[in-house]
Amino acid sequence: MKPTQHIIGATALALALGAAFGSAQADDKVKVGLMLPSTGTYAALGAAITNGFKQFVAENGGKLGGREVEYYAVDDESDPAKATENANKLVKRDKVDVLVGTVHSGVALAMAKVARDNKTLMIVPNAGADELTGPLCAPTLFRSSFTNWQPAYAMGKVAAEKGHKKVVTLTWKYAAGQQSTEGFKEAFEKAGGKVVKEMTLPFPNVEFQPFLTEIAALKPDAVYVFFAGAGAAKFVRDYQAAGLKASIPLYGAGFLTDGTLEAMGDAGKGLLTTLHYADGLDNKKDAAFRLNYAKTYKMQPDVYAVQGYDAAQLYQAGLAAAGGDPSKQEAVIKGMEAAKIDSPRGAFTLSKAHNPVQDIYLRQAEGTQNKVVSTAIKGLADPARGCKM
Ligand code: PHB
Repeated sequence: MKPTQHIIGATALALALGAAFGSAQADDKVKVGLMLPSTGTYAALGAAITNGFKQFVAENGGKLGGREVEYYAVDDESDPAKATENANKLVKRDKVDVLVGTVHSGVALAMAKVARDNKTLMIVPNAGADELTGPLCAPTLFRSSFTNWQPAYAMGKVAAEKGHKKVVTLTWKYAAGQQSTEGFKEAFEKAGGKVVKEMTLPFPNVEFQPFLTEIAALKPDAVYVFFAGAGAAKFVRDYQAAGLKASIPLYGAGFLTDGTLEAMGDAGKGLLTTLHYADGLDNKKDAAFRLNYAKTYKMQPDVYAVQGYDAAQLYQAGLAAAGGDPSKQEAVIKGMEAAKIDSPRGAFTLSKAHNPVQDIYLRQAEGTQNKVVSTAIKGLADPARGCKM
């Protein structure tokens, strides 16, 4: 038999066996479920994640693991009450190979339960809920973003280094805000500072006035907040309008100013934040990523776009290790665990709990950019408290 005939024969045999045992075929599409917000205060974040994911797929010849990609999308509205039903649509009805989502920590926690119960692979492209790579960690659960603890912990260290002693925190009362302010407090108090008051309001309320009045009365050395999306822009504008910006330094996890500086206008100028991405990073991957993003979407990327892009890269690494077959879940998982992701944020690997081990940058807002000032903490791994894996 000639070599070519042999190859054709082997392929035909593999296809026949695949059909007999119901395994995925090379010409099957890979089914990607995108559960993200396209309405509400986090709508722009969901759009950026989708853009980033699709950009990587386009750069990869329109494929993942050598297969065409079929998208199934659901608007989760950042509403935890609808999360289980929405996740079930993608997992049970559409039978996606991978569930990608979401932005809001509370929604992601409910999604992760559906994914785990159905043994569906899940990649979180934003939501920082510490539990996902902590007590709820699982072999099938991965994150391409951050834990709420990571950027917040870095800002606690920076605020202490700046000599602040008394800080007030303010955030939305849900997992992300509470874990962010906890992370800040942990580092800040370890370095000798004191969080004198922890204030919260319900998500996604933007009636900030009573809190600004209280901050003015308390006169802390600084304020630390977790806000994101449209609510973040309103908060920063209100902080300036209340006359606080000139007298009490405002710090935040970088979500405060990512994708929101244009809406803040002058009020955002000079703000210092910490995050795993920044403008002006000196790496080739970032330069190429930004050029292509700007060309494709006619706007600049932000951290959410990077996290979406890296979710696709991570899944590609898994599929490559499984010969392109999403049904070989153990091999996909091994490939993802071993991946070194060449991210626009700088290369990263995953911790044992499947969360990025990454540099956290200190950034300063200048125009519509969050310019890198320094690396606040290099190679920061979340402590993954409670993860038994
Ligand atoms: C979250 O809910 O985990 C969350 C939402 C928006 C962000 C960051 C974290 O920008």
